[in-house]
Amino acid sequence: MTYIKWSSELETGLSFIDKQHQRIVADINDLYEVSHKTDQREMLADVINEMVDYMVKHFTFEEELLGKSGYPFVKAHERLHLLFLKHLDEYHNRFRAGENVLPEILAMLKTWWEHHIPNDDADYVAAVNKKFAGGDPLAAEWLSVTLKMHFSGKEA
Ligand SMILES: [Fe+2]
Ligand SMILES: [Fe+2]
Repeated sequence: MTYIKWSSELETGLSFIDKQHQRIVADINDLYEVSHKTDQREMLADVINEMVDYMVKHFTFEEELLGKSGYPFVKAHERLHLLFLKHLDEYHNRFRAGENVLPEILAMLKTWWEHHIPNDDADYVAAVNKKFAGGDPLAAEWLSVTLKMHFSGKEA
């Protein structure tokens, strides 16, 4: 089941970032699907936890990437991530307390990611390209090591 449809509007053009964003969209679609198939809270909790873990990994990596790229609005970008996680955590707590907040969580996730990627993330692409697309071997090495450090396996 597709809740968020991947489209060219969500592409930043940075392949390693697009892969991570695709995984996030897939995780949200999984949550949507599972929430329609079962009301077993343990199963839903596992899907939510896995999704949140990956989002945190993505944010951590992205913030390091922006710092390394000298992107001037890195602090403001970090704040957007932090506010989102705070908001998500509030929903997560309500879910743990037994409230049926999944429709609200899903709606919030869709609205936030469909805004954040083509607006806030798209804004850093030029700075990242300037640092990493110029063939600087040290930059390429940093990127490879940092991706491996944060992600294992194919999601990197
Ligand atoms: Fe971001
Ligand atoms: Fe992102």
